[in-house]
Amino acid sequence: NKKIIIAIDGYSSTGKSTVARQLAKALGYIYVDTGAMYRAVTLFAMRKCFVDATHFNKEALERFLPFIHIHFEVNTKTGIAEVYLNNENVEKEIRKLEVSKLVSPVAAVSVVRRKLVEQQQLMGKDKGIVMDGRDIGTVVFPEAELKLFMTATAKDRAERRYNELIERGDKVTYEDVLKNVVNRDHIDSTRKDSPLRKADDAIMIDNSNLTLEEQFEQIMKITKDII
Ligand code: C5P
Repeated sequence: NKKIIIAIDGYSSTGKSTVARQLAKALGYIYVDTGAMYRAVTLFAMRKCFVDATHFNKEALERFLPFIHIHFEVNTKTGIAEVYLNNENVEKEIRKLEVSKLVSPVAAVSVVRRKLVEQQQLMGKDKGIVMDGRDIGTVVFPEAELKLFMTATAKDRAERRYNELIERGDKVTYEDVLKNVVNRDHIDSTRKDSPLRKADDAIMIDNSNLTLEEQFEQIMKITKDII
C-alpha cells in the first residue's frame, strides 16, 4: 500500500473530525485537526489581544504570533492527539462556545493562516496523514491524493454540536449553537484569504442521512480504490 494524503474539508460540525479519526486509525495514519490549531491561536488572542467580547487587536496578535507555539501530543490514556498552546494542554478549553464564537475572525487573519499552513505542510511531508479543516484540499495540500468535502444541513450540524457541548457539561442553548454554526460558515466562506470552498477534485459527501457506520464504509471504499 502506498502512503497518501487525505484532505477533508467542509462546513462546521459536519463530523469531519470523527470520520478523519476513524480513517487515520484504520489506515495507521496520523490525524491532524487543523481547527484545533486555529482555536488555540484564538484562545491566546482571547487572553491577550481582545479589547472587548467581539473585537480583537489585530496588530497585537500579529506581534505576538512568533511567541505562539502550537503542537499536538498523544494522550496515552485515550490514544487521541491533544492540542497544546505554549506547552499548556488546551484541548478542553478550545472546544467551548466562547472560542467558537471568536475563531472565524482570527482565522481570517492572513499572517495567522500563513504560520499555521506552513506547520501543517511540514506535518504532512512524509504523507500517511489525514488532515481536516477548511482549506486543506485547496491550499495546504492541493496535491492530496484524496479530497473529501463534507456537508450536512445546518440543522443537523447544530444538533450534533449542541449534543456534544451538553454532554460535556457546557451551558448552551440550541439557538445559540445554530447561530454560531451559520455565522462561522458565512465568515469562513466569504473571507479573502483561503475561503472555505470545495476543491474541484474533491468528492462531496452529504451525511445528513447517513449513520456514522454508513459514512465510514462509504469513505473507506473510496480510499481503498486509491491506495
Ligand atoms: O474545525 P473547527 O470547527 O474546529 O474549526 C474552527 C474554525 O477554525 C473554523 O470555523 C474556521 O474559522 C477555522 N479554520 C480555518 N481553516 C482550517 C481549519 C479551521 O480557517 N483549516
